[in-house]
Amino acid sequence: MSELVITEVKDRILIVRINRPDRKNALTHGMYTAFGDALEQAQDDANIRCVLFTGSAECFTAGNDLSDFAKGLPGKFQETPVGRFLLLLVEATKPVVASVNGPAVGIGTTMLLHCDMVFAGDNTRFQMPFAPLGLCPEGGSSLLLPAWIGRVRAAELLLLGGAFTADDAYRLGLINRICDPAETEIQALAACEQLAAQAPAAIRAAKDLLGRPTREQLRETMLKEGEVFAQRLKSPEAAEAFRAFLEKRKPDFSNFN
Ligand code: COA
Repeated sequence: MSELVITEVKDRILIVRINRPDRKNALTHGMYTAFGDALEQAQDDANIRCVLFTGSAECFTAGNDLSDFAKGLPGKFQETPVGRFLLLLVEATKPVVASVNGPAVGIGTTMLLHCDMVFAGDNTRFQMPFAPLGLCPEGGSSLLLPAWIGRVRAAELLLLGGAFTADDAYRLGLINRICDPAETEIQALAACEQLAAQAPAAIRAAKDLLGRPTREQLRETMLKEGEVFAQRLKSPEAAEAFRAFLEKRKPDFSNFN
């Protein structure tokens, strides 16, 4: 079996590549663990100055693996692989860049809120379908999105959970550049190279100051989101939504109240 997350250090950049094409790069517990390990590696290794998260020209990620979701979240949020990853991402002291194409669903969109630069192909379909899945916002999105793009636009994206394009994301200020999908990673890597060539302590100081105003509140929000999310995963509404996905039909919430 090929590795589902491939990491490589190149020119002081740690490249973290999602590699599960047959499942649209859906993320399992093990893949979050690999993400977390990569972020810890970047933190500990003085030779690494920047981290790049990427997928392929066709797909970033279809979000959390839905069969893993169906099994629930074991233990406290901060001790789960996804919780550990998200908290390490928020606490990262070195710059994190993302190269995104095709589906960027669920955490595939919310993790970008914690990246320092985001490059997206014009084929990107962002989506946060938490409510349509019977779930709730995660990854700090309930705090950051209303603050950054406005309450009503955040509510539209989080409550209706519809897909939005790279143009929409650019207009909302969620991404830096729209690219030809064949060029997204090249452009993101060029930004990583620029970041890696800067004075590293100055970059760390700037990143720390950018994150400082929200860091504490973000941590608190993520823990609360994680708690509610774990409850929602056990809800009959979520069970119906997961069944519907497997049966390739629309969920029927007409009998819930
Ligand atoms: N978890 C588990 N399997 C997934 C998955 C996920 N999140 N996303 C896709 N897959 C699987 C599909 O079940 C399908 O498997 P199959 O070949 O055995 O039928 C395979 O990956 C290909 O996906 P498919 O839906 O056929 O691709 P598509 O190009 O038509 O659509 C998406 C791509 C991303 C729009 C669609 O797969 C999707 O909506 N996935 C679910 C996204 C989601 O809700 N994630 C959770 C967010 S909180």
